[in-house]
Amino acid sequence: NKVVLAYSGGLDTSVIVRWLQDTYQCEVVTFTADLGQGEEVEPARAKAQALGVKEIYIEDLREEFVRDYVFPMFRANAIYEGEYLLGTSIARPLIAKRLIEIANATGADAISHGATGKGNDQVRFELGAYALKPGVKVIAPWREWDLTSRETLMKYCEERNIPVDFSNKKKKSPYSMDANLLHISYEGDLLENPWNEAEEDMWRWSVSPEAAPDQPTYLELTYEQGDIVAINGERMSPATVLETLNKIGGANGVGRLDIVENRFVGMKSRGCYETPGGTIMMKAHRGIESLTLDREAAHLKDELMPRYAKLIYNGFWWSEERKMLQQMIDYSQRHVNGDVRVKLYKGSVSVVGRRSADSLFDESIATFEDDAGSYNQKDAEGFIKLNALRMRIAASKGRQF
Ligand code: ARG
Ligand code: SIN
Repeated sequence: NKVVLAYSGGLDTSVIVRWLQDTYQCEVVTFTADLGQGEEVEPARAKAQALGVKEIYIEDLREEFVRDYVFPMFRANAIYEGEYLLGTSIARPLIAKRLIEIANATGADAISHGATGKGNDQVRFELGAYALKPGVKVIAPWREWDLTSRETLMKYCEERNIPVDFSNKKKKSPYSMDANLLHISYEGDLLENPWNEAEEDMWRWSVSPEAAPDQPTYLELTYEQGDIVAINGERMSPATVLETLNKIGGANGVGRLDIVENRFVGMKSRGCYETPGGTIMMKAHRGIESLTLDREAAHLKDELMPRYAKLIYNGFWWSEERKMLQQMIDYSQRHVNGDVRVKLYKGSVSVVGRRSADSLFDESIATFEDDAGSYNQKDAEGFIKLNALRMRIAASKGRQF
């Protein structure tokens, strides 16, 4: 029997390789993905080889990640609990999908991951895996083994001569982090007390708003069907769009977030996030939708958005209801074309201009000057009176106040 492991090349998942081999006497296939986490993935090959792994998958999934997961989610303006842009949540379904595809290609009947038994990530990996391969076996070492502290883990490595190269860890961080092109997250350590402010040197992608330039940065973003296709007139791929916005946003102190959120498993958790590009995209997308979407279409999207966001947070990307909502959201975007001008300044993002060939904004109707006749102010009288009818009836029957 064979198991496909989501392998980062780090200490924890290296221990998992050996533990799977020892505990289940199984062949381990490793899968390492470049999702834009900003770390080389190639070193994972030599590490896996040293652990006796024969089938090693290392893949650059950055374009697929942004094109098929991040962009579709941003068409919905998805935000969890009013704040979180779902940076980790949206990467898990793609990893789950690749784990299953690799299992099918290598004849493996099981998958494994390094998420703990306390978090959301285990749920997301496994819901995805079961949805895509109903009979798959899941092995979650963190829920089974007793290597629960750093020390016992290190000891396990020493005893088994696990060749983990600790020295190449540039700057080890006390935080539990997860990074991809959309965000970097920090949890644990000093953040476990929700009253503690994060230390300035924790943040890796952005300068603080205080340290950001005193001059604003302007950007022109071009949308086609709800997705950004060009920045300042230059067409680029989805991953390049996000990478570019991350750099410019980060340099202007955009996208820092510090929240306490509700995990699916029931506990509250404090996390800090940097989502510079995503924060710009969120604002700008609302900017272009404000011109191009029908009012009721926009409001319906807004009503369904929290539902859609929660379902992604909870790991139901591969569910029927997510696909239904996605169809609706994608359909709503067919006229969401045009340009948005945004201004970045010391941590803030403001939309300062928008234009579209598909605009529903009609200057001749909206103007405060003399209107051309397509809107008759007299019509408003009946419109208001009939809308007031039931309130007038109630009031006339004594139901005032
Ligand atoms: N709390 C965030 C979420 O649930 C981030 C999780 C980060 N995951 C990690 N393995 N460090 O989406
Ligand atoms: C983990 O437990 O693996 C990280 C936190 C989370 O999944 O929510």
